[in-house]
Amino acid sequence: MNTDQFLVKSQLESIDSASFTWQTPSNIALVKYWGKSNPQIPKNASISFTLNNCHTITTIDFIRKEKSKNVTFKMFFEGEQKDEFKPKIAEFFKRVQRYCPYIFDYEMTINSENSFPHSSGIASSASGLSAIAMCLMSLEKELSSEISTEFMDKKASFLARLGSGSASRSIQGPLVVWGKHLEIEGSSDLFGVQFPYKVHSVFENYQDVILLVDKGEKQVSSTLGHNLMIDHPYAENRFKQANENLGKMSKILQEGDMKNFINLVESEALTLHAMMMTSDPYFILMKPNTLEIINKIWEYRQENKSNICFTLDAGANVHVLFPENEKEAIHQFIKQELSLYCDNNQYISDRVGLGAKILSN
Ligand code: DP6
Repeated sequence: MNTDQFLVKSQLESIDSASFTWQTPSNIALVKYWGKSNPQIPKNASISFTLNNCHTITTIDFIRKEKSKNVTFKMFFEGEQKDEFKPKIAEFFKRVQRYCPYIFDYEMTINSENSFPHSSGIASSASGLSAIAMCLMSLEKELSSEISTEFMDKKASFLARLGSGSASRSIQGPLVVWGKHLEIEGSSDLFGVQFPYKVHSVFENYQDVILLVDKGEKQVSSTLGHNLMIDHPYAENRFKQANENLGKMSKILQEGDMKNFINLVESEALTLHAMMMTSDPYFILMKPNTLEIINKIWEYRQENKSNICFTLDAGANVHVLFPENEKEAIHQFIKQELSLYCDNNQYISDRVGLGAKILSN
């Protein structure tokens, strides 16, 4: 695999200080990534909708220092210094230092905030690490003027992936594929690419409401979860199935085949959970209210001839997906019925979005 393209080869300029602010989205996978090998290479290709309202905003201030062997940074989250967040970011810097040697030349101050509540059970690693990756790429662009926007996005996704696999899908939008797949032109295990074919208009402005069933910390960290796929009795079939599903999803998205979209998306969510129920050790990540909601969604779909469906992350929260033309009716249904199964009746209304945005430089 050609990772050399991401090394810094040109002579870098010398800049004393710089500051960049990026807003990067969260994403929700339709075909799931679950299982990886080193260094952050997925066992199968995945595809996700980029979200519009759930995002992280991160500013990094870079002040030039004497070159040292250590990467030095301070971390603030929502205005407060958070040293407990540092180990994950320090590990990220370690993984990217070969590709971003300039991080040794600066004292970095990272200020980050999420648009969604911190303890909502919504994973913030995708939006969090993609925002840091974009800030690094903005610095790289200042230091070496040869960089195109296209390369900036590609390398940012490459760097973000090294921090968290799904973060590679949080640079562009509205649909991003990560993982080499024969039917998706340009796809790669190293970075996410925008879905390269024309998507049917029924998927425009697709809606996602996140029902917060359980706002606690994740029961199973993603690192542990991915490791459960090592020596899992169904792993090889699952990886094969996911790649086949991505081929099917590509056609569905182009043809606007709503019925098969619903089938595939729900099947992927349940398969992800089935993998966890059949691993050693085993886990049930759904809560009773997750099941109540799924049953309500199925009832509503049948009674109203609706195109509503659900997907799940590796947790108990439910993402409710539906086309824009059903927005009003389904928002009513969620408010009146589904919210009763949520922690404090809380949910977040979102829709597909376009990807990373620079807010200041
Ligand atoms: C269930 O990207 O969080 O959300 O690479 O270890 O950081 P790491 O894992 P992560 O895994 C996401 C898993 C998932 C499915 C998906 O987003 O495709």
